[in-house]
Amino acid sequence: MIGDRKLNGNSMSRLVELENYFSSNAYKIGKVIYYCDEISSTQKIAKEISLTAENGTSIIAKKQTEGKGRFGRFWHSPEGGLWLSIIIKDIKQPLYLNPILSLSCIHMIEQFYQLKPRIYWPNDIYINGKKVAGVLTEGIHFDNSAYIAGIGVNVNIDEKYFIENKLKEATSFYIETGRKENILNIFQDFLIKFNFLYELVQMDSPLYIDEAFKKYNDLLSQFVKVNYGGTQFEGQVLDVSIKDGILLKLQNNIVKNFFPENIEYIRRV
Ligand code: BTN
Repeated sequence: MIGDRKLNGNSMSRLVELENYFSSNAYKIGKVIYYCDEISSTQKIAKEISLTAENGTSIIAKKQTEGKGRFGRFWHSPEGGLWLSIIIKDIKQPLYLNPILSLSCIHMIEQFYQLKPRIYWPNDIYINGKKVAGVLTEGIHFDNSAYIAGIGVNVNIDEKYFIENKLKEATSFYIETGRKENILNIFQDFLIKFNFLYELVQMDSPLYIDEAFKKYNDLLSQFVKVNYGGTQFEGQVLDVSIKDGILLKLQNNIVKNFFPENIEYIRRV
């Protein structure tokens, strides 16, 4: 790390060791990495600096006080998690951003732990039926010419925190394995995986991503209830895919596609 500097009023350090690692030509993402002990939200600060920041600039924080989830929900971000936002300026197929965040997380989990992570549509990562990570991608600038790709991962958070905050559906790697990990190692591995998948998107070869997305999905053939833009639907999941969303056979036998941006939640019935 190098000394503190102010970034839009927040005291930030640069993670020089990791920046050096990602400085090689093999990587596009992670050449500039800001680290902060406490921040309102990495997502918010990433947006604020996005105009001048270079593609792939990443911000991580030890703790967030105003972590943001999908649909403006509060995202609990105490010490012990990976709270990360990446500024993405040149992705060829933005539709793939959420899936490659989720899959990078899945592959990182498989590298570090003996766990079986699943993608719970549209972008949550579950372990043993509980949520361990969430993804939030936001288009910015009036023409969506850049994106802030955010992910929150519950790494070393203990059970007490989730109980005290009545988060019955949440878990962490620590709870599942009894083992604490170095969050910077987790972050580095996540970025290696993210760079690899990002490159596949940039080379227009997303076949692996399409297949992996299906393979790790938890909803295929399940009976579910969907809140879609405020309306409830119920049916069986016939297919999930990045391009066509989730294909449901509804109770009246009509088959309908649901796209992730409008899915507020999906629950098994
Ligand atoms: C969700 O499941 O609702 C998405 C949660 C995304 C949380 C991450 S943590 C890092 C980044 N900063 C935020 O304020 N939110 C995202």
